[in-house]
Amino acid sequence: MSQLRFEPLHEDFGARVRGVNLTTYLSDEVVEEIREAIDTHSLLCFPEQPMNDDAHLAFTRRLGEPEPEHVTFGKTGEIVYLGSVGNVVDKDTKRDNADPRTHYQKANEMWHSDSSFRLIPSFVSITHAYEVPGEGGATEFVSMRAAYARLSDELQVAIDPLHVIHDYVFSRTKVAPVDPNHAASLPPIENRLVRTNPRNGRKNYYVGSHARSIVGWSGIDSRKLIDDLNERATRSQDVYAHQWKVGDTVIWDNRCLLHRGGGYDADRWRRLMRQTRVVGAGPTLAEPPPNSKQQL
Ligand code: OGA
Ligand code: MN
Repeated sequence: MSQLRFEPLHEDFGARVRGVNLTTYLSDEVVEEIREAIDTHSLLCFPEQPMNDDAHLAFTRRLGEPEPEHVTFGKTGEIVYLGSVGNVVDKDTKRDNADPRTHYQKANEMWHSDSSFRLIPSFVSITHAYEVPGEGGATEFVSMRAAYARLSDELQVAIDPLHVIHDYVFSRTKVAPVDPNHAASLPPIENRLVRTNPRNGRKNYYVGSHARSIVGWSGIDSRKLIDDLNERATRSQDVYAHQWKVGDTVIWDNRCLLHRGGGYDADRWRRLMRQTRVVGAGPTLAEPPPNSKQQL
């Protein structure tokens, strides 16, 4: 009998999960239940987790291979698996709004899917909240699975075979210059536009801020379609805004969700979250091609 208890967070996706301490060694059955819940709910929030970096990485490894944090890897070649989100330096110091690194994180306020610009994009991100602002600082999520289901049959059929270039330098340079070594480590890559969940057959389109152009299309037509798909996915009524509480560990499925930071006043507040990502199953072009007749 399962120990996990689920409560929905939004009508399209998301669940709060109680009844498990992620910092303990989990049975294979519980890990499998969490994997299945990721496929079903796309976003899982586990409240009141007594997390630390070692436990965070150990839990990440239960879900798959941790992804090297790309900023550090690109700039220095060093592999680290935990990244920090927010403005905290140490217990006495934080970065304020004027700090370039605070500004750099503003790019997270565009709708995106983490690591969609990698040849093997991320499966999930796992983020734990250690310090949260008294005001602001929510992370907003939408489901590209629900958005795909809302498209007309004709539009679904039209977009199913398309491929999309995702490019980190394209999206980031809208906000701040990218370090040349970092840029060199992340050339543009090609993804499927439509992806299928291997367990339940649910389909979604896969766009976000890193999506630059449709392969074989003109720039203007590419941007029209990508902007349209981004807008259709991110209508305000479809958003779940996660207001973090200290102790929340949140897993989100980067294959089918978009998210963005809601922003906060870094002059007033401290915000510290730690994040790992799990590597996806392979390049999206190696996934089975979508077949709209076979939707479950
Ligand atoms: C992230 C992210 C947005 C935020 O952690 O991957 O995009 O709320 N965060 O800071
Ligand atoms: Mn992100």
